[in-house]
Amino acid sequence: MAGNNNEDRVRIGVIGGSGIYEVDHLKTIDEIYYETPWGYPSSKITIAEDPCGFKIAFLSRHGKGHKYNPSEIPTRANLALLKNIGVEVIIAFSAVGSLREEIKPKDFVLPDQIIDRTKGIRPSTFFEDGLIAHVSFADPFNQILSELIYKHKNVLEEEGSTLHQNKTLVCMEGPAFSTKAESNLYRSWGCDIINMTAIPEAKLAKELEIAYQMVCMSTDYDCWKQGEEIVTVEMVVNNMTKNTANSKKLLEAILPDLRQSLSDGKFESNKGYMNHSFITSKE
Ligand code: ADE
Repeated sequence: MAGNNNEDRVRIGVIGGSGIYEVDHLKTIDEIYYETPWGYPSSKITIAEDPCGFKIAFLSRHGKGHKYNPSEIPTRANLALLKNIGVEVIIAFSAVGSLREEIKPKDFVLPDQIIDRTKGIRPSTFFEDGLIAHVSFADPFNQILSELIYKHKNVLEEEGSTLHQNKTLVCMEGPAFSTKAESNLYRSWGCDIINMTAIPEAKLAKELEIAYQMVCMSTDYDCWKQGEEIVTVEMVVNNMTKNTANSKKLLEAILPDLRQSLSDGKFESNKGYMNHSFITSKE
C-alpha cells in the first residue's frame, strides 16, 4: 500500500456539485460504476489517492456534463453505492445562494440546519414497501465533521474568503430560482443560504449512518438584495469556477485530519442508531 496508509477501505466520500465535476488534483486509481437496487448513480465513482496514499471516493452529483436537474438526481443510487464501497464520511460540496449580507459571493458555509421546501417528489428514504424506519433528523449534518472542517478556515482566509459555520439552509425544489417574495420569506424564517440539493442527500446519508456535512459555496445573493444582480446560471457557474481551486485547497487541508479522526474512531458515535429506528415488526 502506498504512503503511510495501511487502510484498504475507501472511508471518505466527496460529492461534487455544480462546477466540481472531478478531483483532477488527486491521482485516479480506479473507477466504479454499477447498478444498485435504486438504479445507476449520477456518475462513475472515481477512487482517487491523496499524496499520502489515502483513498477517497468522488462522485459528481449532477453527472458528467451536468445532465441531472436537482429533482432528477438518483440520490438513493449515489449514496447506496458509496455506502457499499465502505464510505463512512461524506463531504458534499454545493453551490448556494446567500440570503444574508455578510455571506458574500465566493464565501464558504457549513450549515447545521435545513428547512425542506422540496415538494415531496424526490424519493427520500430507503425504507418503504414493508420495511419502515423513522430516523431522527433533528441534526441533519455531522457536527464533528463540521468542526473538523472549520478548523481549516485559514486556508480559505488566505484566499480572501470567509468560512461561516452553523447556518440554516433552505432547500427548494427548483429548477427555477425563487421569486423575490419567496426569497424574502426564507430570510424572515431565519434561513441564511439556499440550494436545491441538500434534500434528500442529507436524509439518505442519515439513514445509512454516514457522517455527512455539506460544504456550501456562495455564488449569488439570490434575488432579495436591492442593488445586486438577480441570480442567473451564468453567475452561479462563474463564481463556482473561480472557487473550484479554493474547494480543492480546503479538501487537501482537511484530508489528513479526517484520515486521523477516522483512525482514532471519532465517528464511531455516529453508528448504530438505525437499530432503534425500525417500526416494522419482526414477525
Ligand atoms: N444554487 C446557487 N444559487 C442558488 C440560488 N440562488 N437558489 C437556489 N439554488 C442555488
